[in-house]
Amino acid sequence: MAIKSVLKMGEPLLLQQARPVEQFDIPQLHALIQDMRDTMADLNGAGLAAPQIGVSLQVVIFGFEKNQRYPDADEVPFTILLNPKLTPLSEDMEEDWEGCLSVPGMRGIVPRFVRLRYQGFDPYGTEIDRSVSGFHARVVQHECDHLQGILYPMRIRDFRQFGFTDVLFPGQQIIDD
Ligand code: NI
Repeated sequence: MAIKSVLKMGEPLLLQQARPVEQFDIPQLHALIQDMRDTMADLNGAGLAAPQIGVSLQVVIFGFEKNQRYPDADEVPFTILLNPKLTPLSEDMEEDWEGCLSVPGMRGIVPRFVRLRYQGFDPYGTEIDRSVSGFHARVVQHECDHLQGILYPMRIRDFRQFGFTDVLFPGQQIIDD
């Protein structure tokens, strides 16, 4: 459908709580998701939330094929998740680098739950219920944070581990997610 421009940090809409989807399997919803897919693919992202293209609805997409940018990260199946609910499965947290298409050119170390269960719906209203860990769990937490108006810099504990990608990782080709 269309590649949309991604809102950047500072935009008030990114700080809003997104509304739940009330009607599944309608053309407007499929069109929104296609725009999100086109935009994420164009930017080589690992995930995208609807508010990032200016739509304050509880829709996220994510997925990651090995070897784009994080050679050590696990594959994450491509997923379209609506009205998500996250439940940590333990209190264990781990820290790792994150970036965001709404915070271009930067990276920071963000603590996330290691294991969690996520529930929600696909675009047709079919339930999704998965228990995941590691990078999959991290991506879900990052994307679902967008629906609560939270950007990853708001979760950083040590701002000495936040900076510009080309300075932090010189010579490496790292694309924003
Ligand atoms: Ni993001």
